[in-house]
Amino acid sequence: MSSPSLDPAAIAADVLREHAPGFTARLGIVLGSGLGGLAEELLDAVAVPYAEIPGFPRSTVVGHAGRFLLGRLEGVPVACMQGRFHLYEGHEPAIVKLPIRTFRALGAEALLLTNAAGSLRPEARPGSLMLITDHLNFQWANPLIGPNDDDWGERFVDLENAYDPELRSRLLRLADELGVVLHQGVYCGLLGPTFETPAEIRAYRTLGADAVGMSTVPEVIVARHCGLRVAVVSAITNMAVGMSTEPVAHGAVLDMAAQAAAALVPLARAFVRTFGEG
Ligand code: HPA
Repeated sequence: MSSPSLDPAAIAADVLREHAPGFTARLGIVLGSGLGGLAEELLDAVAVPYAEIPGFPRSTVVGHAGRFLLGRLEGVPVACMQGRFHLYEGHEPAIVKLPIRTFRALGAEALLLTNAAGSLRPEARPGSLMLITDHLNFQWANPLIGPNDDDWGERFVDLENAYDPELRSRLLRLADELGVVLHQGVYCGLLGPTFETPAEIRAYRTLGADAVGMSTVPEVIVARHCGLRVAVVSAITNMAVGMSTEPVAHGAVLDMAAQAAAALVPLARAFVRTFGEG
């Protein structure tokens, strides 16, 4: 994709490339709460704090390092965000356009988004993984509101297959080969920063949600607008409010994310490897 040279994402990509001359990404990865460990596995990696990338705000959330990495995983050049921007931090929905388009400007053809999520499905226990098949946008916000950036994509974006069916079957096959349990379900994106009430969780279940979280939906929307293929894997960190006797707390979310990461890291590595084949 040719991005206009004065575009903020093109400028951000140029600044990142100053740290890794000639770098072209095949895949972009966003690491969610407590899942930053995968970044440590990149080889020949350069890490650039968001504070040094023009237009990037700082990540304010505990468990999010707030840096962009360029490196190789399984021999495949990947760009990686260790920490993302959430609407509950006070960012405008449009802020998400910048990092996602930066992946595109770096050459990525697909994105692997990860997040921490609460489970609405009794069999999807904390510490397990869920492959996201679709979403409910309960953030009541859309990052594409405003004049359309025609250089990046069309005004009206089709989200029917936003969660790329072929990438999903690839992940299911790899999980099977690795013996990793991969649940499947619909992600309900919420604003936060409060966790939900039990009545809300009952309502979201009725409406078809299998997992709840406070991120990802705007990123998927921007990615589809600019033609990036998308795969999303949630680390189930807790049962949603009212579904267990355990109270929900961010500390416990981070602890369980670390447990889920033990399954996520080999799955993500195997997935990345497929981008180096053929
Ligand atoms: N609700 C919303 N966001 C979350 C949760 C939850 O239960 N767990 C992790 N992120």
